[in-house]
Order: sequence, then C-alpha cells, then structure tokens
Amino acid sequence: MKERARAARQEQQIIGLVPTMGALHAGHLALVERARRECSPVYASIFLNPKQFAANEDLSRYPRPLEADVEKLTAARVDGLFLPEAGEIYPAGFSTYVHVEGLSERLEGRSRAGHFRGVSTVVLKLLEIVQPHFAYFGRKDAQQVRIVQQMVRDLNLDTEIVVCPIVREADGLAMSSRNAYLQGEERRAATTLFRALRAAESEIAAGVRDSLELQGAMRKVLASEPRARVDYAEIVDAETFEPVVRVARRCYAVLAVYVGKTRLIDNMLIEPVGEELRVEV
Ligand code: PAJ
Repeated sequence: MKERARAARQEQQIIGLVPTMGALHAGHLALVERARRECSPVYASIFLNPKQFAANEDLSRYPRPLEADVEKLTAARVDGLFLPEAGEIYPAGFSTYVHVEGLSERLEGRSRAGHFRGVSTVVLKLLEIVQPHFAYFGRKDAQQVRIVQQMVRDLNLDTEIVVCPIVREADGLAMSSRNAYLQGEERRAATTLFRALRAAESEIAAGVRDSLELQGAMRKVLASEPRARVDYAEIVDAETFEPVVRVARRCYAVLAVYVGKTRLIDNMLIEPVGEELRVEV
C-alpha cells in the first residue's frame, strides 16, 4: 500500500482515502463518490479495528460481508482496496497510541471507554501509510471527525479532512452497519432518533434557542418510544463538544440511543447564518 501510494504521489496524482470498517452501505459509498470527484487515485480501506471496541462491545458479531463489500467498491470504481490483517496493523509488541485529550472524553468517549484512542491511533496509521491528500469522513460520526481534524492539526499531518453529509434511509434512519442488528419492530422504533432531531428542528424554526428546551423536545419524542433507551441527548458546541446553554454558535444536537440492545447514534448540525439558524439533519 505504501509503495503504491508513494508512486502515485511521485507522479503528482491527488490521492483520496476513504477509511471504513466494512459492511458497506450507501453512506460509505457516498464518501467514495465524493472522493472520486476530487481525487485520483481513490483508495478505500477496510479494517475492523479491534482497538476501538471495548471488551463488552460488538467486535465479535460485527458484520463482515467481505465479498459483497469488494463488489460494491468495484462497482464504485475505487482504484485500490487496502485490506490489512490485524497482525499487520498491530504486530506483537505494538505499544504506541494517540490520544486527543478533552474531546475524546466526552459523549461517545464517556460511554465507550478507550474508543477514540483506538480510532485516533488507527486513523493516524492509515494516514501515515497512504499519505493521502484528502481523507473522507461522514458527519454521521461528528465527534469522530472533529477528533480526527484535531489530530491532523496537532500533529501537522499533510492530509485535508473532508466531511460528508449523513446518508439516510427513506424513513430518516441514518445508515449504519449496526442497523443490521435491528430485529423486527426495532427497525421502525429506530426512526425515533430522526424524529427527535426533527422535533428539535421544529422548535428552532419556532424561535427556540434554549438548549434545555431543545433537549426536552428530543427527549419527549424518545420517551414515547418504549423500545428506546436514551444514553445521551444534548446540544453541544461543534468545536469543543461541551454542552451549550443557548444555541448561538455552530452546534450539534447529538443523540445516542439504545433500541433493544443496539446502540445507535445520530446528530443534526445547527449553524447561524446571519440572524437565522440553518439546520442540517
Ligand atoms: P465505519 O463505521 O465503517 O464508517 C466509515 C466512514 O463512513 C466514517 O467516516 C463514517 O462517519 C462514515 N459513515 C457511516 N455511516 C454514514 C452515513 N449514514 N452517512 C455518511 N457517512 C457515514 O467510522 C469508522 O468506520 C471507523 O471509526 C474508522 C474511521 C474507519 C476508523 O476505524
């Protein structure tokens, strides 16, 4: 992978990288499409990174449909798939980790101990191996991409991080490899996250700026779904991921909700444009 990417770079080509953990869906493929518009060659990576799963999490049952993934990437016309083994990324004696302080401790980091240390470490390794000009990430994982941007800035990496919109199912559910875990009625119940974000959006359109009120609107929707259990539902600053009192700067409404045993996340971007707030689900 290093040799190929280095050769492309020497030929003045613009390298794009789309890091994934596989079980690809239209959200991943949208990243590839965007990368193809801006770069050539485009490389995708599939690496189910054990270091970002806590001991009690779903690493062992995470879907691994490798053949279907390869077909999708071929159809999407990526120029290369980087598919390393766990032992290549973490050989025996591996002992160096990256930790983005502060940002990694909140929200997802609080609920998933060690998660972002695993993410930052593997993303740094992928960026070092491929040295892409551009790397593509989804806003679906807003805190993750913010942490990656911070790492790139702090470590002077020569990659520009590109953030792509959330791709959703027709009923609003954000696409996720974990949606495959949803059983029967849980699939319909899972739309509660999107409906909660929409409720906050309506409040904003009605002029509400107070975070507690917006949070209340989201929690009301989530509480009405018996299969849902809220982990967090907050309005946070888009830079620091600290809670805000009022929506005045760029913020995210962020949700983590269990539907049955499946933990789902979603978010909505809220940004001031002049006197108005623009909302993007
Ligand atoms: P994974 O969950 O496979 O996601 C790979 C990329 O696809 C991430 O940037 C994620 O934000 C994006 N993505 C997932 N669902 C999306 C959706 N519905 N719309 C838009 N983008 C979406 O995120 C990871 O893998 C890993 O943490 C990784 C960055 C690869 C490091 O291991």
